[in-house]
Amino acid sequence: MKQMIVAGNWKMHTTASTAAELAGSIAHHAGVQGGMEKGVSVILCPPFLSMHTVCSVVASSHITVGAQDCHHEPQGAFTGDVSAAMVRDMGCTSVIVGHSERRRYHHETDELIAAKVLAARAADLVPIICVGETLEERQRGVQTDVIRRQLSTILEIAGVTSVQAAIIAYEPVWAIGTGLAATPEQAQEVHAMIDTLLREHGVEIPILYGGSVTAENAATLFACPDIHGALVGGASLKPGSFADIVAEAGNVMS
Ligand code: PGA
Repeated sequence: MKQMIVAGNWKMHTTASTAAELAGSIAHHAGVQGGMEKGVSVILCPPFLSMHTVCSVVASSHITVGAQDCHHEPQGAFTGDVSAAMVRDMGCTSVIVGHSERRRYHHETDELIAAKVLAARAADLVPIICVGETLEERQRGVQTDVIRRQLSTILEIAGVTSVQAAIIAYEPVWAIGTGLAATPEQAQEVHAMIDTLLREHGVEIPILYGGSVTAENAATLFACPDIHGALVGGASLKPGSFADIVAEAGNVMS
């Protein structure tokens, strides 16, 4: 039976009060509870400022909370930044690193992302490492080269032991927020390639798919042998849709 994980990336949405409401609706939703009873792990990644609230709302459930990013240094003169230890102290157990929006808008490189993986591990957080090709790279047919390069740099700098404790999220950039999800065949092909590459280093970890995952397409994506769940953006803001995705993940476990 494969392990299934569904993570919700709320991005820059919600205030503390609307985040509490959303987390509460998700935690109490029958679809989420049913999926979790079957063994699905559910992670909510709210904005930093809602983390404390969301951690208290889900404290009595098995839902865990993750950050959307962290700084690569443990502390220091970095105005406006948030360290992995601060995130851990709030009650988070994981952190997304290398999301394509961070790569694009904050010019994050594979080297910096590798440093963030190390920072996350030093604070005892599970890094959720995002990789994925742009539309232009897919059109040129170089997606596997791009992902191999992204992962190899991270493996080289952060080391096998750190990656062994991580989760990978394959998120084709062209599928994020566009409503144009990868087909199960496209996703499975890349997931299999990632799995093979990691196994060459003795690493066996969950590989999530991300990019326009909805209640409608989740089942066919989750049926793929190398897809171990989803990193969900837009649909994670709607309790009903997110719950349906968790329930679909539960269906492949039973
Ligand atoms: P989306 O976002 O589900 O809205 O496409 C996914 C992500 O960015 O993680």
